[in-house]
Amino acid sequence: MELRIWSLCGFLVVLAVISHCSGNITSRKLSYKSTKKDVLDAHVMERRNVDNDDFLGDEGIDDEAQKDEGNEEEVVGVIQTEPKKYNVESGLSVRLACVVSPASVPVVNWDKLNGNEVVGLYFNKMKMNPAKFPSNKTEIISEGGVHDLVIHDLDSSDSGEYRCSVSQEAPVSVVHSLRVGPRIVSLTATNNGEVPEGSDLVLTCKVEGLPPPQIIWSRVGSGQEGSNGRLKEGDGTFSFDSVTIQNVKGNASGKYYCYAFNNLGSTQREIDIKVLEKPHAHVHRTEINTGIGDHAIFQCTSRGDPMPEITWFKDNVPVLVDNKHFFISKDGVNSNLTVIPAGISDFGTYTCLAHNYHGVHNRSAELVQRPVIDEVDVTGPKLSFKVHSHLPLEQVEVQLMDETGNINKFELPLPKNLQKTYDFSYEVSEAPGTYQAYLRAKNDKEWSRNTEPIKIKIEAEPINMQKSSIFLQNHAHSVRHSVTLVSSAFMYLLIRML
Ligand SMILES: *[C@@H]1O[C@H](CO)[C@@H](O)[C@H](O)[C@H]1NC(C)=O
Ligand SMILES: *[C@@H]1O[C@H](CO)[C@@H](O)[C@H](O)[C@H]1NC(C)=O
Ligand SMILES: *[C@@H]1O[C@H](CO)[C@@H](O)[C@H](O)[C@H]1NC(C)=O
Ligand SMILES: *[C@@H]1O[C@H](CO)[C@@H](O)[C@H](O)[C@H]1NC(C)=O
Ligand SMILES: *[C@@H]1O[C@H](CO)[C@@H](O)[C@H](O)[C@H]1NC(C)=O
Repeated sequence: MELRIWSLCGFLVVLAVISHCSGNITSRKLSYKSTKKDVLDAHVMERRNVDNDDFLGDEGIDDEAQKDEGNEEEVVGVIQTEPKKYNVESGLSVRLACVVSPASVPVVNWDKLNGNEVVGLYFNKMKMNPAKFPSNKTEIISEGGVHDLVIHDLDSSDSGEYRCSVSQEAPVSVVHSLRVGPRIVSLTATNNGEVPEGSDLVLTCKVEGLPPPQIIWSRVGSGQEGSNGRLKEGDGTFSFDSVTIQNVKGNASGKYYCYAFNNLGSTQREIDIKVLEKPHAHVHRTEINTGIGDHAIFQCTSRGDPMPEITWFKDNVPVLVDNKHFFISKDGVNSNLTVIPAGISDFGTYTCLAHNYHGVHNRSAELVQRPVIDEVDVTGPKLSFKVHSHLPLEQVEVQLMDETGNINKFELPLPKNLQKTYDFSYEVSEAPGTYQAYLRAKNDKEWSRNTEPIKIKIEAEPINMQKSSIFLQNHAHSVRHSVTLVSSAFMYLLIRML
């Protein structure tokens, strides 16, 4: 009995000493059959309070000398901590738990297991392997039955399994696993993320970890919550840890995410980007027709960050709002100027000016008495458009220019009743080819401005035997407008079908 206790003590001491000296030992090499000399030396080191001579002078195992060890035999420790997987970012600290019971368990050890190799960390509270684990790298938090191991400044080499064990005749242990994933040290952006429109935005994500983590960038645009889009080639220029977005527009505002990962884990961080947008003014229509005493509404929408203020000008002079001839109504980014011209002098150029901290921008529209043509639409050979004129219309004209530059003019019939807005449509019935159409209208004041050229393409008639209804429809139209174009073969087919 006494021999066994002595051997156990010897084992524990040898473990400590050998580990301490070699810094690298596998547990398999240890056995209860340590040489007596080792045991003695170790025991002396461990128990300095015991008189060395008592041991050194004794060739055998001295029963008398071991009497004070007798109490410890009764203490059988158990570990109450369950094994756990710790996933921690590199650079941080981790505290691995080990709670033993009873609190008086004499010897609690921590080892790192590298496969079959066991690297001692602590024998009881005694630090081992200082070469591998410098004094500021690990510590034991010990209080009552708690024997937690704290590891600081983690890097991937700290990943692995850690064993807390109680050295006793029937050893007990708990093994935790630790994975040290990548860490985002910093995520920064040009000017703290507030970038003027048109400048370059550089986002930099400093990461730490082994193997070196990879980075994926993504963003959620302002007002598009929930749709995280990965930044791709073309969205910016990527380097190892940064992305540069050149000449940013207002739509670059939003949340940007840096996602770093390697085979040991992943982590993510986000940063808000705000593009300080220059002011932009946009007028909905550039030419508005009205009559004296009638009203016209100029609509202007602005954008910019901060949100621009809108002011109105008439021929470069600020509009004086009198709530009689000039009204302004505002709603956030929108501003309406309502004008009720009292005379000819109220016609002219009206300007919407948007201004914010970053500048000014303006857009103008004209208030006119001449006809205004808008809402031009082309569907196949059919042209439709609106003519606005508060004065009676006198003439509405379609000019068609073919590919050789020849121009044909077509005057459209005018409606009998007087209106302010007229709907017109015109079906081009020329030979197949491409045409440019121009529209103009005249009231008893003057001609409208010519519209921009409108491109019209007249296709050759399709011959489709499968879909006879479409065939007939197309043909009916064709017969009506351009009988001469119908080839004899086409006629033959039609006659056969009818
Ligand atoms: C531990 O010892 C083995 C051989 O005994 C050796 O291959 C290994 O490099 C040693 N490790 C350290 C960290 O010293
Ligand atoms: C520990 O000390 C070493 C130098 O002795 C130093 O390089 C390292 O940063 C320290 N680590 C911590 C976590 O303080
Ligand atoms: C912003 O809009 C421009 C076009 O105005 C487009 O080319 C660009 O891809 C957009 N950027 C984002 C981040 O949506
Ligand atoms: C609008 O901007 C132009 C330059 O783009 C400037 O010449 C003009 O004076 C501006 N108009 C007003 C009313 O500020
Ligand atoms: C401006 O006028 C349009 C058309 O009448 C109207 O729909 C809109 O609500 C007005 N906006 C403001 C800010 O008054």
